[in-house]
Amino acid sequence: MKPGLLGRSSRGSRTAEVVCFLRGLAGVDPFAGELLGPVARLALARPRALPLLNLASGALLASIAARTRFIDDVVTAGLDAGAVRLVLLGAGLDARPWRFAARLGQRPVYLVDHPASAENRARRSRTLPTRPQDLRIDVDFARDDLRARLRTAGLTPGSPSVFVWEGVSMYLTEAAVRQTLADIAALAGPGSLLAFDLWSDAGLISRLSHVLGGLGLDVLGEPLRFWCDADDVAPLLADAGLALDTLSNTAAVARGAGLGFGHPGMLLVRASRI
Ligand SMILES: C[S@@+](CC[C@H](N)C(=O)[O-])C[C@H]1O[C@@H](n2cnc3c(N)ncnc32)[C@H](O)[C@@H]1O
Repeated sequence: MKPGLLGRSSRGSRTAEVVCFLRGLAGVDPFAGELLGPVARLALARPRALPLLNLASGALLASIAARTRFIDDVVTAGLDAGAVRLVLLGAGLDARPWRFAARLGQRPVYLVDHPASAENRARRSRTLPTRPQDLRIDVDFARDDLRARLRTAGLTPGSPSVFVWEGVSMYLTEAAVRQTLADIAALAGPGSLLAFDLWSDAGLISRLSHVLGGLGLDVLGEPLRFWCDADDVAPLLADAGLALDTLSNTAAVARGAGLGFGHPGMLLVRASRI
């Protein structure tokens, strides 16, 4: 993160706040208003004209909702199969600790994020129920040793975990993306699952939104750095020691779930240990 036109990096990720708001608007996150404060709560209380908003946002609204649904399904599958923890990499304002509270039970959530974003989350979640078993782990994926930090925090390789890396890969360099995937593979015990998304710029629509979305992200101080064609996802995972289980995109998931039209260039991935 770097200082953007709308704010300073020390304030934490702006995009984390934007996607939290969009999830609230799309009706897939009942905690968004509480996390974002009174003005957002008011705006989210009576959402209107969602198809128009989806159109105006270049399908971002339905895409974010579809991404949430896809990743929720992986989290559900992993927890039901006996994962001992949920690891949110680049947690932002992800409300899964509360949304999945019943299913998680006493299992801890590892909240991994850039220190500035982690601080923002801590501030914004003060009024939500505390889960004493959850752990905050401050990490800069571009600089810090994620593997060592998670091991120190008690993430012992050998047990099954669910890893979620939602809306993060596109902000990292290719080297940081590869390193993070290798760290996940090294820490994932048998039965572990990973869910994440990637941006592709294959095709005209994707390329256009890539340029326009990239400009918007520059303004927010979180420039677009990584994208990957669908054909390259399996090799990218294999290089890190992971296997591709499912490759989809938010257009397909949104269509299947009746969420409207989503973006074909937002790729959705479920992966597991080789
Ligand atoms: C779009 S937000 C997504 C947040 C959350 N996963 C969600 O879906 O609501 C991007 C997240 O990536 C994190 N991030 C971006 N670059 C990072 C880096 N170099 N190290 C650690 N976290 C980073 C930001 O702090 C932010 O929480």
